[in-house]
Amino acid sequence: VTKIAVMTSGGDSPGMNAAVRAVVRACIYNNIECMGILRGYQGLIDNDLIPLDSRSVRNTISRGGTFLQSARSKEFRTVEGRAKAYKNFKENNLDALVVIGGDGSFTGGMIFNKEHKVPVIGIPGTIDNDIYGTQFTLGYDTALNTVVEVIDKIRDTASSHNRLFFVEVMGRDAGFIALNAGIGAGAEEILIPEENLGIERLIDSLNVSKKSGKTSSIVVVAEGDKTGKSVFELADYVEKNMPEYDVRVSVLGHMQRGGSPSCFDRVLAGRLGVRAVELLLEGKSNLMVGINNNKITSTNLEKAVKLHHDIDKELLKVADILSI
Ligand code: F6P
Repeated sequence: VTKIAVMTSGGDSPGMNAAVRAVVRACIYNNIECMGILRGYQGLIDNDLIPLDSRSVRNTISRGGTFLQSARSKEFRTVEGRAKAYKNFKENNLDALVVIGGDGSFTGGMIFNKEHKVPVIGIPGTIDNDIYGTQFTLGYDTALNTVVEVIDKIRDTASSHNRLFFVEVMGRDAGFIALNAGIGAGAEEILIPEENLGIERLIDSLNVSKKSGKTSSIVVVAEGDKTGKSVFELADYVEKNMPEYDVRVSVLGHMQRGGSPSCFDRVLAGRLGVRAVELLLEGKSNLMVGINNNKITSTNLEKAVKLHHDIDKELLKVADILSI
């Protein structure tokens, strides 16, 4: 391996820049060349690559977003698109690819590897934390801190007006953000895709809260929660059934994806980036680097994509106990 490329793909997350920086510097340290592919797989199809040296990643560690930019490429899902990408890969004399992204991006990498024998290493970057084989993905910690900071502010105004707030957080398939930020911000109820608590149980729980003297409340709802109702429908339902509550809805949206990465995400990005390059130098491929019990590990990409990162049931219990 003498020349590798790095890309960010799928939904961006804080810490992606820090990971690109780590990959670039690990390459320089190991005397190999590094190129950056712009806009994920689409940039490889369009031959949009830039050489990256140690100075080209200066002042990027603290920046949110991804300076390489990202995309969810439809063309790369086709055989022709991947053939174009491979042609450019060869013409740029590249030996291997580091993909920073989520499971969709890893699936793309696996297919590319199968068809064209390109060595691929994945670095998990998504605020959702929904990747098997790593306890933490890049950007998740930052997103949690953003969400907690905002819910604290919502609580200020909620308690001034004795209101019940429904706060929708990101996570169309995973409740990690909702559950952990919900506990961190002291939510009364947390609705997540992994558990269907049912709407009646929500009403019961709000009734209990009311009786125990609570005058304002926060309910955190993950985008993909399983009640089958949108956050607005949930709010309407509760308002109709509990007219004593003055209900408001706040959808946090893409602000959760932005911002300067937390120290945790920066350090994680550094460790994962260095390990990704080391694995390629060891001749390895089709692996995703991750962190488990504070050790950097690697997991087969296929497993990372197919298996499910389960939420910790203990957290559900804690959330329940703390919200009485
Ligand atoms: O996967 C990250 C994520 O932010 C999800 O939490 C969210 O459902 C989705 O991406 C939003 O996607 P988009 O940015 O394409 O609207």
